[in-house]
Amino acid sequence: MSDAAFDGPTLSLRITARQEIAQDIVMFELARPDGADLPEFTAGAHVTLRVPNGLLRKYSLCNDPQERHRYVIAVKRETPGTGGSLSLTTDAKIGDAIEVGEPRNDFALAGNIQQFLFIAGGIGITPILSMMRHLKSSGAGRFKLIYLTRSRVLTAFHDEIKAEFPGQVTIHHDEGDPDRMFDLWPALEKPQGRHLYCCGPRPLMEAVRDMSGHWSSAAVHFEDFGATKPAHKADDKAFRVHLARSGQTFDIPANVSILDTLRAHGITVSSSCESGTCGSCRTKLLAGDADHRDLVLTEREYATNIMICVSRAKTDELTLDL
Ligand code: FES
Repeated sequence: MSDAAFDGPTLSLRITARQEIAQDIVMFELARPDGADLPEFTAGAHVTLRVPNGLLRKYSLCNDPQERHRYVIAVKRETPGTGGSLSLTTDAKIGDAIEVGEPRNDFALAGNIQQFLFIAGGIGITPILSMMRHLKSSGAGRFKLIYLTRSRVLTAFHDEIKAEFPGQVTIHHDEGDPDRMFDLWPALEKPQGRHLYCCGPRPLMEAVRDMSGHWSSAAVHFEDFGATKPAHKADDKAFRVHLARSGQTFDIPANVSILDTLRAHGITVSSSCESGTCGSCRTKLLAGDADHRDLVLTEREYATNIMICVSRAKTDELTLDL
C-alpha cells in the first residue's frame, strides 16, 4: 500500500485507551470523539491508520464485531522496521486524533461452517481473536485455537484468551528453541470438515500450507500484513512482463513487484494485502514460467495463474492476460 493516501473513505477518530499488553505489544482503542457508533465490521477485518509519522499501516481489529463504539487493535513494535509500528507505539497517546480508513475484510469467516481450526503465531492472534469472540457471542460455530509464541512475556492477550475460551485453546511457547517447536501435524492430519485460518509469521504460514495440502483449498485461509511480507531475495533478477490485451511490455526491476511496476505505469489491478495471501491480485498467466511466492494458489493453478503482488518469473518474460 502507498504511504501517501487512503484508497477509500476515512474516519476522524480519537485514541481513547492505550495499554502495553505484552512486551513490545501495545493495544489501542479508537472511537469517535462524540462516542457515536462506528461503521460495522466483520470478524477478521482490518483498518488502515495514518500513524504519527505520516505512514499508512494496516492493523487487524481484535474486538467483537458486535461492539459498535470502538475499534481495538494491538500493535507489535518492530525494530528495526519501516517505522510505522515504532511511530504508533512510541508517539500515539490517549486523546490524540487519528485518521482511520473504514474496515475491510480479506480474511472473513466462511459462512455455514460449523467448525474452525485457528492457528495464530505471535501478533497474528489479532484477527483470530475477533473471530473467536464473534463465534462465542453469536454461537455461529465451534473452534479450537493453537496459539504459538516465543515466550509468555511476548504473548498478547494470554490471560484474556485463557479466561474467555476455556478448553478451546492451546498456547505454546518455544522459547526460541527449534527443538521445542509445536507439532502441528496431529491437528492438521484430518480435516474433518473444518475450515483452517492461520495468521502469523511467514515461516509458520508456509509450514501450515505445506502440512495442509490434503485439505480442500477453499477451506484453508491465510493472512499477514507487511511485517512478514516475503522479502525480495538477494538473487532476484529483473524480467519482462508482456500484457497480452494491451500489447504493452514492461521491465520489472529486481527489487520491485509486478504489481508496483504496473501501478507506476497507471495500470490498475485490484489488490489488498500485497503479501500474497488475500487472492485479490490473481491474474491469468498465458506464457512463461512463474516463481510463485503466494499462499493462495494450489499447485494445479500454478501454470495458468499468478499473484502479481509477490510472485516473479523464472523465465525472461511472462505474458499476462491484462
Ligand atoms: S494483493 Fe493480496 S494476494 Fe496479491
